[in-house]
Amino acid sequence: MSLPKRIVLVGPMGAGKSTIGRMLARELGYRFLDSDRIIEERCGANIPWIFDVEGEDGFRQRETAMLAELSEHPQTVLATGGGAVMREENHPLLKRDATVVYLKTSIEQQVERTRRDRNRPLLQNDDPETVLRNLFAVRDPIYTELADIVMFTDRKSPRLVVRQLVNRI
Ligand code: S3P
Repeated sequence: MSLPKRIVLVGPMGAGKSTIGRMLARELGYRFLDSDRIIEERCGANIPWIFDVEGEDGFRQRETAMLAELSEHPQTVLATGGGAVMREENHPLLKRDATVVYLKTSIEQQVERTRRDRNRPLLQNDDPETVLRNLFAVRDPIYTELADIVMFTDRKSPRLVVRQLVNRI
């Protein structure tokens, strides 16, 4: 089996990108990278702080710079933030030497998995379900267009998703 240089996970908040990414990397002997967590480490602040102080635009700039840097690391599984696909300039960075996997998840599961989450600024003010539904309407076609593999995660354990991914990669 010849493995792709990088595996890049895209999809909405609550899709399981970090959980599945970490397990998939372990399975393949690849390094796991989580774009949001590395941005936080570099910045010395969490994402709500970055949104508060620099606005969503400031966060997106940091995200683009991070995706550019991480696109140069082979043998990695990268978990991206749900909005990483929103800047067109990010698309070649996501696709570079990579198999892109869209972890597709129903709104109900997204709501369930992000319940009472304080680290996602986009879900703090308005009704989270409405926000997630609106984001999904815009982003689902972009995730689908970018993806080499679309993997449904509803009613599946992370272990099962990883097993199915290993068979398809
Ligand atoms: C965002 C998703 C978050 C994080 C930020 C913005 C989005 O990542 O990047 O809060 O725009 O959907 P997760 O998808 O890991 O929650």
